[in-house]
Amino acid sequence: MKIGVSGASGHLGRAVVSELLQRAGAHEVVAITRTPETVSRPAQGRFGDYNQLGSLATAYAGLDRLLLIPTVDPQPGRRGAQNVAAIDAAVRAGVKHIVFMSAAGARQAEEPVLGAPYWQGEQHLIATAPAWTILRMNFYAESFVQQAQASLAQGVLTGLAENRVAFVARGDVAAAAAGILIGDGHAGVTYNATGPERLSGAERAALVAEITGRPVAFLAITEEQLRAGLTKAGLPVGVVTTVTSIQASFAAGAFDIVTGDVERATALKLRLVLRTSENELVRSGLFGGGRSLRRTCLHLKFPVTGMFTGNFRPTTKNTRGSTRLFSSRKHGLPRASS
Ligand SMILES: NC(=O)c1ccc[n+]([C@@H]2O[C@H](COP(=O)([O-])OP(=O)(O)OC[C@H]3O[C@@H](n4cnc5c(N)ncnc54)[C@H](OP(=O)(O)O)[C@@H]3O)[C@@H](O)[C@H]2O)c1
Repeated sequence: MKIGVSGASGHLGRAVVSELLQRAGAHEVVAITRTPETVSRPAQGRFGDYNQLGSLATAYAGLDRLLLIPTVDPQPGRRGAQNVAAIDAAVRAGVKHIVFMSAAGARQAEEPVLGAPYWQGEQHLIATAPAWTILRMNFYAESFVQQAQASLAQGVLTGLAENRVAFVARGDVAAAAAGILIGDGHAGVTYNATGPERLSGAERAALVAEITGRPVAFLAITEEQLRAGLTKAGLPVGVVTTVTSIQASFAAGAFDIVTGDVERATALKLRLVLRTSENELVRSGLFGGGRSLRRTCLHLKFPVTGMFTGNFRPTTKNTRGSTRLFSSRKHGLPRASS
């Protein structure tokens, strides 16, 4: 089976390719990107640009299954058009099963509403693909850390209203995507990949304060205040619009959802998985290590990696040492089901 990942050189794309390569099975991995020269073997790199239809026809040829990862292009209308074009190209190329990476809370709306291009892609996929799966991701825990870092100097985490978000580790979204791509029984299903816990703004602020030992509070501000602050910080208009749209989605409850979809689909229970903390969260510098790090990991309760894994074979290994006071679980990787 030939599995393609389109948008393969971004953070999420690289993580999905890596997850696919770690799983045993008779599948080949094709990484589709505008920079195929950066793809490492055994994955095969192919050139594919969402803005160049011709390139997608070649890139998607011969694939059995394909994951479409939308870009982060901030230009209004661009991402929706890219999503539709990529789906059309995949259908025309004869891809049997298309998996579309979407966002929690996506609904019919006009841009700059965050979910608008994802909704457009979802609807087009459902209407045209021979077999499809939608994986809606919740807000990344990694993105929360970036927000928290930026807020430390002022001592406030801001939002357009008090809200709750079930942050999910990007690595776990990638693992879920890989599991869907390799496994069976996922056609015609929309999954919400969420974290296990809905943290309110106040709870997030308290958590960051506890970890850093610095005072941090949550403050609800108006959209005008948010825009003015971001503009004053020198951010370009597109970024200001994106951040404001994200905060509006938070306030609307777009990410206030814990589904357990992922766990139910695989009969796996959520466990504390700290792989993401070992990598990006720790490297980010906010969560420095030692007891603080351990507490952070325990609080955020990142869900298990290796989700959607039919033949789960746990080979749990605990790592405890002077520099790693947290428990790190490495999972046995599943066999492919076809
Ligand atoms: N849930 C969340 O909290 C959250 C946070 C951030 C992002 N996201 C979403 O997650 C998805 C992936 O994000 P990411 O963090 O992996 O993004 P990223 O690291 O910025 O990667 C985006 C990738 O898109 C590719 N790209 C850009 N324009 C392209 C085009 N015209 N044709 C083909 N590829 C193109 C680029 O690869 P090349 O330049 O090599 O082609 C780039 O590597 C996006 O849909 C994004 O909106 C979600």
